[in-house]
Amino acid sequence: MQVILVNADSPLVLGQMPDPTVGDNDVLIDVKAAGLNRADLMQRAGLYPPPPGASEILGLEVAGIVSAIGSAVTEWSVGDRVCALLGGGGYAELAVADAGSVFAVPGGMDFAHAACLPEAMMTVWANVFMRSALQPGETVLIHGGTSGIGVMAIQMARQAGAGTILTTAGSDEKASVCADLGADHAINYRTQDFVEVVQGAGGADVILDIVGGSYIQRNIDAANLNGRICNIAYQDSFEATVNFGPVLMKRLVLTATTLRARPNDQKRAIRDDVTSQFWEAVTSGAVRPVLDSTFPLAEAEAAHARLDTGGHIGKIVLTRD
Ligand SMILES: NC(=O)c1ccc[n+]([C@@H]2O[C@H](COP(=O)([O-])OP(=O)(O)OC[C@H]3O[C@@H](n4cnc5c(N)ncnc54)[C@H](OP(=O)(O)O)[C@@H]3O)[C@@H](O)[C@H]2O)c1
Repeated sequence: MQVILVNADSPLVLGQMPDPTVGDNDVLIDVKAAGLNRADLMQRAGLYPPPPGASEILGLEVAGIVSAIGSAVTEWSVGDRVCALLGGGGYAELAVADAGSVFAVPGGMDFAHAACLPEAMMTVWANVFMRSALQPGETVLIHGGTSGIGVMAIQMARQAGAGTILTTAGSDEKASVCADLGADHAINYRTQDFVEVVQGAGGADVILDIVGGSYIQRNIDAANLNGRICNIAYQDSFEATVNFGPVLMKRLVLTATTLRARPNDQKRAIRDDVTSQFWEAVTSGAVRPVLDSTFPLAEAEAAHARLDTGGHIGKIVLTRD
């Protein structure tokens, strides 16, 4: 099959690799679209190796048509239109997913849009809802509101009845997109102090952070009594000098998780929750994928350049005819 090959310090290029094998609990997907994630840039740079057993090929999510199923799979059939979370292997003609990481593509949604859903929705559910237990009426701060994760976090929080939604973004244009998606306060972090704005809005009960570094203290300062602060990345730094006094006095929870390394049964539980809690909203359009741009699979290098420079809003997707 055709795949995108990574060669150190060289552009991404199309090449050939053997077709993947399908395990008993797997689904083989004829890939029509593959979502990009920031993690792909890290993996390409050698900083985020695939977990044991996962494909070495880049790509954490795809949409396409089921072309084969493992002997133990009962919930999917050949010909189904699906999107799926992968441990790796999305930048290819064929990809293998555990059956429990697969979603049905809503009727009428094209594959490029469907490929935007699995990683973002499962990450938001696992961190904002499972880990941080966002409750209806509570205030949530979502950093990086126009990231692939952020656009979905805003909408899922709104759909779940969050009281006040605050987001950060790096320009007025991006902040205005966050407001359109449902944020009550969209903060341009280059011109405004998010701690002041959040405190002015009454403080945050839940904070989803992708920045780390200097944000660790600032998140603590912006959090309410019993607040939960969840990091899913530390783009600025894993290290910080922190005054833990307010953590003690405000009874805060500081936590962090990754999705990729979780066992399949945990991913299945997350998939099931996302399906039961949000798939009707996805089907109706109340929660919608935000597609920044598409690139043919062969132009993966250009797609990575767009992700790397950070001008995108929402998801970048590779497509195959
Ligand atoms: N732990 C997990 O399971 C998991 C799963 C998925 C993703 N992630 C992580 O989540 C992050 C988002 O992923 P993605 O694929 O959606 O990436 P992405 O679309 O490239 O988003 C990166 C975002 O970081 C924002 N950002 C950078 N510096 C910031 C700052 N100082 N303040 C606020 N926002 C800032 C950018 O905002 P501007 O462009 O507006 O500056 C941009 O929206 C990545 O770091 C990724 O590794 C983790």
